[in-house]
Amino acid sequence: MQRTLIWDLPTRLFHWTLAASFAAAWLTAESDPWLAVHVFLGYLMLGLVGFRILWGFVGSHFSRFSSFWFGPREAIAYLKQVARGQAERHVGHNPTGSLAIYLLLLLTLVVGITGIVTLGGEEQQGLAAGWFSFAQIKLLKKLHEAAATGMLLLVMGHIAGVVVESVLHRENLARSMLTGTKLAKPDTPRTGAHRQVAVALLVAMLGFAGWWFYYAIDQQLDMHVWQHSPQTGVVEKPHVKFVGKALPDNKLWRDECGSCHAVFHPVLLPARSWQKTMAEQGQHFGTDLGLDSATTQTVLKFMVDNAADGHTTEAATKIDLSLAKDATPLRITETPYWVKKHREVSAADWAKPQVKSKANCAACHSDADAGTFEDGAMQIPKS
Ligand code: HEC
Ligand code: HEC
Repeated sequence: MQRTLIWDLPTRLFHWTLAASFAAAWLTAESDPWLAVHVFLGYLMLGLVGFRILWGFVGSHFSRFSSFWFGPREAIAYLKQVARGQAERHVGHNPTGSLAIYLLLLLTLVVGITGIVTLGGEEQQGLAAGWFSFAQIKLLKKLHEAAATGMLLLVMGHIAGVVVESVLHRENLARSMLTGTKLAKPDTPRTGAHRQVAVALLVAMLGFAGWWFYYAIDQQLDMHVWQHSPQTGVVEKPHVKFVGKALPDNKLWRDECGSCHAVFHPVLLPARSWQKTMAEQGQHFGTDLGLDSATTQTVLKFMVDNAADGHTTEAATKIDLSLAKDATPLRITETPYWVKKHREVSAADWAKPQVKSKANCAACHSDADAGTFEDGAMQIPKS
């Protein structure tokens, strides 16, 4: 037995970058301010898996899929051997470990792709922007989360396997994945280090990171990351246009409800609120709307059909869920979700000449007229 190179450099670089990316993506999953980092890690992992699949065909002996092409039956047989404490040693991946690797590659693809679609539907950003609405991606988001949880469990199983195997064969497998070497028989197939490929992979990853954090984020995306305006020194978000599907519209509603103030799209309050608004139209915030019954019927139908209860947008869903079942607010600005989302807007911002009233949604939300209220379309007026 002699120290032999088993894992080439690209495979090791892939392994540890994927591991670190997954850990970091898991930690940044729940928080909006880290969304840009989370999404970056997702794309990085997809790229890494793409590389690994390619490398599985053209890489060095032990990195090729052909060297660890075991079926589920062999994986289970190997587990049984391990349970009996007499598993044979594999210099490359053992059958159970191989299965975990294929599942991890597959799950990474599922997590990455469902992540892109979720980002597209929820924030109207990224490659799938405009494909789906908030309500439509609910299930895909669940799948994204479930697949990520599956990955976490698999990673834990993989680590447990490495520990068991290391004890069983008295060798440190984690260190082998760092140094690349293992004790092996002289007739073991030779592995080249493939330094150039590793350097190319590293350069590609650093280039992607540089592009993402210094160009894409600043110029194109609204991902809630630190952003500095060189002129004012103020941290601000760029304005990103809404790219999703337009919400239903109605001319009569626009004419009748948009003459005193800008229209408030029906998705912003539940149907019962619109029914009450129309029932009490004689005293609408101190004015009389004075609509005849045919007009009232048509406008009310449009509003009820597209009310917050329909959960067609993120705002609709969250406004509706924030309300008590028996609450029938007439003001959007009194719904718990609205209040929560605007808690941090300063008095100075409300007092700005472009804003003046809380109900002047369009002052800060460039998509207020369309009713979509996407994160990327929000910007508090400067000065
Ligand atoms: C004659 C003028 C007038 C017309 C027409 C009108 N409104 Fe209003 N509306 C008001 C006034 C005044 C307020 C109170 C504004 C404020 O306090 O900032 C108001 C406020 C509202 C608010 C509360 C906004 C908030 O969250 O603070 C909603 C919702 C609303 N109107 C819906 C409608 C709908 C629906 C229609 C059409 C059926 C309509 N309005 C037509 C005058 C009008
Ligand atoms: C002074 C500026 C300003 C005005 C006026 C304003 N908003 Fe906002 N709005 C904000 C800010 C700031 C946020 C928080 C954005 C965030 O959390 O990223 C926000 C968030 C929201 C969100 C949540 C968006 C999301 O999906 O995270 C909704 C919905 C919303 N506003 C609706 C309204 C409506 C409806 C009106 C008018 C009745 C209104 N806003 C008026 C500044 C404003």
